[in-house]
Amino acid sequence: MGIDRRTFIASIGGSAAFALMTPSAKADALEAHLQQRLNEASAQPPAGKFPTVAEIEAQIDKAPIRAGVGNLFAARRGNVQRLAPMPDQPTLVDFFKLRFMATSNHVLQSANRAMRSGMSEEIVLACLLHDVVQELIKVDHGWWGAQLFAPYVPAKTAFAIRYHQALRFYPDPANGYEYPDMYRRIFGEDYKPEPYIEATYRMVRRHKWYLEPRMVTVNDLYAFDPNVHVELDQFLEVIGRHFRQPREGLGFDGSAVAHMWRSLSRPDAPL
Ligand SMILES: [Fe+2]
Ligand SMILES: [Fe+2]
Repeated sequence: MGIDRRTFIASIGGSAAFALMTPSAKADALEAHLQQRLNEASAQPPAGKFPTVAEIEAQIDKAPIRAGVGNLFAARRGNVQRLAPMPDQPTLVDFFKLRFMATSNHVLQSANRAMRSGMSEEIVLACLLHDVVQELIKVDHGWWGAQLFAPYVPAKTAFAIRYHQALRFYPDPANGYEYPDMYRRIFGEDYKPEPYIEATYRMVRRHKWYLEPRMVTVNDLYAFDPNVHVELDQFLEVIGRHFRQPREGLGFDGSAVAHMWRSLSRPDAPL
């Protein structure tokens, strides 16, 4: 399988993160990258052939980690990699470069799509942040993500992050959102959202800010496009205008969510 150097470097968090890695960490990352691409290529079922909910549930006790565990806390294959140290007063950009390796490519592509289609800066920021909490935990990532960012972003941005999780199960063709095949694959073709998701959807559908989380789902790109390379640089002005970076650094500002940022900084701490 061939490798595109820019795609590979983007997948591990960009050239700054790459430069901080040791030669053996680079070799490990390259191997993991190739394996992931191989997995993605082989994970495509024939058209119309998706697993059932029962088939997916039957896999639970056949894996060493649960599906909801955060990316930083488990290797999908082999061992976890050594992480570069964080600065003393880490910024959102530092987290993107040094901790959001598994999710940054996806969210950068989503935010790029929102920006190019002229959406509001609150929505561009929501797209940029909507899935990065999956480095910490995946289950209920909309709620966890909104909590992580609420002290630092506009209320509309936190609302969009929280509720994109529920809205993605409900098509809205008038606003450009169809149910993605990816969900038939990962939740099962006969999956029905849990009652709390259904109730949340009904509430948000009537809310005056409905379009904020809806636009996050519209910009959610499920297929990794190797021809699109998006750098964080193009969002620095949006971050500067709308993200209230604490002077003490994320994790050290005494906020109610500081421990969540410290957990992202130090996932190797035993307790
Ligand atoms: Fe998401
Ligand atoms: Fe997403």
